[in-house]
Amino acid sequence: MTAPFRLDAKTALVTGGASGIGEATCRAFAAAGASVAIVDVNRPAAEALCRELPGSSVLTFDITEEAAVCQALATRQSLDILVNNAGIGLVGNVEETELGDFQRLFRVNVEGMFLVTKYALPLLVASHGSIVNIGSVAGLVGVKKRFAYCATKGAVVAMTRQLSVDYPTQIRVNCICPGTVDTPFVEGYLEKYHRNEKDRVRAELNQRQPIGRLGKPDEIANLALYLSTKAAEFITGSVITIDGGWTAA
Ligand SMILES: NC(=O)c1ccc[n+]([C@@H]2O[C@H](COP(=O)([O-])OP(=O)(O)OC[C@H]3O[C@@H](n4cnc5c(N)ncnc54)[C@H](O)[C@@H]3O)[C@@H](O)[C@H]2O)c1
Repeated sequence: MTAPFRLDAKTALVTGGASGIGEATCRAFAAAGASVAIVDVNRPAAEALCRELPGSSVLTFDITEEAAVCQALATRQSLDILVNNAGIGLVGNVEETELGDFQRLFRVNVEGMFLVTKYALPLLVASHGSIVNIGSVAGLVGVKKRFAYCATKGAVVAMTRQLSVDYPTQIRVNCICPGTVDTPFVEGYLEKYHRNEKDRVRAELNQRQPIGRLGKPDEIANLALYLSTKAAEFITGSVITIDGGWTAA
C-alpha cells in the first residue's frame, strides 16, 4: 500500500504561491513529492521560496494578463494539479465601493482564475488532473463591509461547481472556503485600515471563528494537499469550509 497524501511524480502549479496560503501549499506539495511551479507577481519572494523547495520552479506572471497566462501554460509538457489561490481583498459596503476597485477585484479573483483554468485545462484533462480553487467563507455567507470580496468569492464557488458539471469524469474540481487565516493578507488589512488599533481588531478577527483563533496557512495547505491526492478521488464539485466553525452558526 502506498502512503496516503503523497504526490510523488506529480506536477503542480500554485498561483499566488509566494505568500500566505499559496506558500504553505507549495511547501506541503513539495514535501509530499510534487514538482511545484510557483506562480506570482512577486518574483523575489517566489525565487526565495523556490530555492528552498527541491524540484520547484518560478513562473512570474500576472494571472489577469491573458497573453502571459497562455504563453506560460503553452510551454508546459504536463500538469497534474492546479491550485487557483491568488486573490486580493477589499473593505467596504456597496456605497463605499468604487467601480474601479470592484472591477479590479473581479479581474484578479474571478477573471484571473478563469484564465489560468482555461489555459491549464487541456493539460489537466490529459493527466486526469485536479483543480483546487481557494474561495472563502465570504462566498457562502455575508461578511460585513466586504461587498466586492463576497461577490468575487461567490463567483469562485459557482465556477467550481460549474466546471465539475462540464468535466465530471475528466478532472476533479473542488473549492476550499477558509475563515480568517493568519497571512500577510490579514496583516496588510490591519496595517491599511486599523493601524492604531491592531490588537483590538486582531481580537475581533479571532472571535469571528467560534473556535477563537485564526486559521494557520498550513491547515489550509493540508486540506489542499488531501484534495489533490488519490485519497480524494471521489470528491469533485465540493465546496469545503475550513473556518473554525464560522459558517456553522
Ligand atoms: N488570509 C485569509 O484570511 C483568507 C481567508 C479566506 C480566503 N483567502 C483567500 O486565500 C487566497 C490567498 O490569500 P493569502 O491570505 O495567502 O494572501 P497573500 O496576500 O498572503 O498572498 C497572495 C499572493 O498572491 C499574489 N498575487 C496577487 N495578485 C496576483 C496576480 N494578479 N497574479 C499573480 N499573483 C498574484 C501576491 O503577490 C501574493 O504573493 C486568496 O484568494 C484569498 O482571497 C484568504
